[in-house]
Amino acid sequence: MSDPQSEMMRKGWDPEEGLNSLKTPLFHTSTFVFESAAAAERLFAIVYGGETPKLGEDVGFIYTRMDHPNLVVVEGRLAVWDGAEAALLFSSGTSAVFTTFLTHVRPGSLILHSTPLYGGTNTMLYKVLAPLGYEIASYGPDASQDEVEDLIGDRHLAAVYLETPANPSNDVFDIDLAARIAAAATTPEQRALTIVDNTFLGPYAQRPLDHGADLVLYSATKYFGGHDDLVAGVVTGASALIEPMKTMRYRIGTTADPHTAWLLGRSLETYAIRVERETASAGRVAGFLAGHPKVASVRYLGLIEDEDPRADLAKRQWSSAGAMISFDVAGGKEEAFRFLDSMRLIANTTSLGGTQSIACHPWTTTHSNVDPETKLRIGITDAMIRLSIGVEAPEDIIADLDQALAQI
Ligand SMILES: Cc1ncc(COP(=O)(O)O)c(C=O)c1O
Repeated sequence: MSDPQSEMMRKGWDPEEGLNSLKTPLFHTSTFVFESAAAAERLFAIVYGGETPKLGEDVGFIYTRMDHPNLVVVEGRLAVWDGAEAALLFSSGTSAVFTTFLTHVRPGSLILHSTPLYGGTNTMLYKVLAPLGYEIASYGPDASQDEVEDLIGDRHLAAVYLETPANPSNDVFDIDLAARIAAAATTPEQRALTIVDNTFLGPYAQRPLDHGADLVLYSATKYFGGHDDLVAGVVTGASALIEPMKTMRYRIGTTADPHTAWLLGRSLETYAIRVERETASAGRVAGFLAGHPKVASVRYLGLIEDEDPRADLAKRQWSSAGAMISFDVAGGKEEAFRFLDSMRLIANTTSLGGTQSIACHPWTTTHSNVDPETKLRIGITDAMIRLSIGVEAPEDIIADLDQALAQI
């Protein structure tokens, strides 16, 4: 099957396994009964002792923190979307990021990240990992390969970590370039990985593994979950990189629970049609904002024109522009607040990627932990609004923006 939407629909669940239930049942249990004491011994030898199961051996489940049926089904379907060998589901996007670093990067080596980043990831890097001895450095969207390699110097690069498009500025980074930088820094002792947080565009529009990324990360709280009613994270990639993360996941307990996995599986069925509608609406909304006198600037992938230096990347790296828009209102924080407080349809809250349209003020919320000088340097102003377009009628979203902008 060529289309991931079709391929994932029946993957991983055979109705004959469960009373002919068309849909995957929710296995709401914390533990699994062993067939016998000897079967338990064999299971633990495989899971803890690293023994390889025999061909066709049914390994079974032990305990829900380690693995459970709802994980297996939804992970198989998530892997399809990214064209990946394997996927893992986590308790949050943040725990997916943390488990990735803990598994694949040793303290003392360098994580080179794109900037800006989601504020929580930025905080994890500088307030959690740096004090543990990890080296952290960053580069912006305009840096050349030479500049990035100078920045690395003789440090031991373990990972290039990209968030593209970046939260909240929609800055974009070249994944192929990052993969080349990682390849150049790879030594016989350690491979430098290219890791991409693909939360903003998702696999519907951008498949980082096709551009040389090793691991792809998501806050599944956003477009995969899509209804603002669950918190989860995803990592996809080659089995050789995913397997040690699975072990780390049960050791540190960052596994997603059955109910979350089940809900996510349900949401995945409508992932593409939600994103398709939201993207179409976002194009109309961005056009409206770009022509509005109370709007100082708009950052939206769909507004990149042929003469833009990013036009080549736009052709190569993503197939549609997504539904995240950031824009600066004319004025500053006061005008941004007045705008937000005047919205009636669009909700003032910090998440994104759900069915309801959402707007927030990154300066004082999602990125409040980033110091003001850094925020300005990386293009986050106190006039900026981050807007996530939902499934409402686009004309109603535009009408709400129009009336709220009129209050400035
Ligand atoms: C780009 C991006 N990555 C990671 C995260 C963290 O995900 P979670 O909130 O699910 O822990 C977020 C959250 O907003 C995000 O926007």
